[in-house]
Amino acid sequence: MSVDAHIAVMTAEILEWLAPASGKRYLDGTLGAGGHCAALLQETGGEARVLGIDKDGQALVRAEEALSGMGYMPSVKLVQGSFADFEKALNAVQWPDLDGAVLDLGFSSRQLDDPERGFSFLQDGPLDMRLDQTDHNPTAAELVNTSSSEDLKRIIKDFGQEPMAGRIARTIVARREKKSIAGTTELAAIIKRAYPARRRFHSRKHPATKTFQALRIAVNSELEDLEVFLEKIPQYVRPGGRIAIISFHSLEDRAVKQWFRYHAKDCVCPPEQLYCQCAHKAVLKILTKKPLTPSPAEVQGNPRSRSAKLRVAEIL
Ligand SMILES: C[S@@+](CC[C@H](N)C(=O)[O-])C[C@H]1O[C@@H](n2cnc3c(N)ncnc32)[C@H](O)[C@@H]1O
Repeated sequence: MSVDAHIAVMTAEILEWLAPASGKRYLDGTLGAGGHCAALLQETGGEARVLGIDKDGQALVRAEEALSGMGYMPSVKLVQGSFADFEKALNAVQWPDLDGAVLDLGFSSRQLDDPERGFSFLQDGPLDMRLDQTDHNPTAAELVNTSSSEDLKRIIKDFGQEPMAGRIARTIVARREKKSIAGTTELAAIIKRAYPARRRFHSRKHPATKTFQALRIAVNSELEDLEVFLEKIPQYVRPGGRIAIISFHSLEDRAVKQWFRYHAKDCVCPPEQLYCQCAHKAVLKILTKKPLTPSPAEVQGNPRSRSAKLRVAEIL
């Protein structure tokens, strides 16, 4: 469903696996343009309830406009913040629990395409990258201009899985000694120069792609937020309720997979231990042994969906 410039990804699968029903309460922790939220409501004739959270205040304003145009606002509660803080949002709207939750991680097309947000190097813009522009977290420009070479290397290697992380970090540090780095295209050009010519030539993607992903993940504490959310959400979803998570890069998908596996086990003792001493209890059942991916037709219609992976678990 397209509510804004962003086309919601794997909406049919989200509806199939969450199976929304009238009178039930759902969390959409990444409201974005409101596409998944609108689909949950459309499916139930507006009779489900959705708590929509987004870090991005501008996204919330636009989603509210779109949902209100569809007549769905009476069924929706909107809260600005991180899905890691969903407990606070539940308290604010006085919901004790949920019948399901969806996360569609990362950023929206609208955010990517707006040069002022600094997510893309295809158009010049300030190196911001904060999803929540009102918070006091460092921007990408602050990270790039103040982090030590070692810290930059670690960020680019760990969050971008970039083999050239050391070279890129050293080149950034050498450049910023002459003049601080302010813009997206400027940073992309510096990274391109740090790349060995042979790799630059053979690479299908722009050499800055992985470094931009790494900076975005670091600026927005993306993996920390996901871990905090995963740790807390089972306590709030009623038995039989489902958690559906769409991720777009392997670090997120791995975190979801490992967390699902751990919490689907009744015992997490090391294999060499003969008797269970951990008293661990499974809290969920994995419904998607392998991640689901968008259909070829969806990828053709919305190429940005191509790297999406959906995992679903049911709370016991
Ligand atoms: C891929 S878009 C979601 C699109 C949405 N599902 C739709 O159908 O329109 C991701 C959204 O999640 C938001 N976001 C990312 N991380 C977040 C977090 N930790 N907490 C809350 N919102 C977050 C982004 O600001 C962005 O609007």
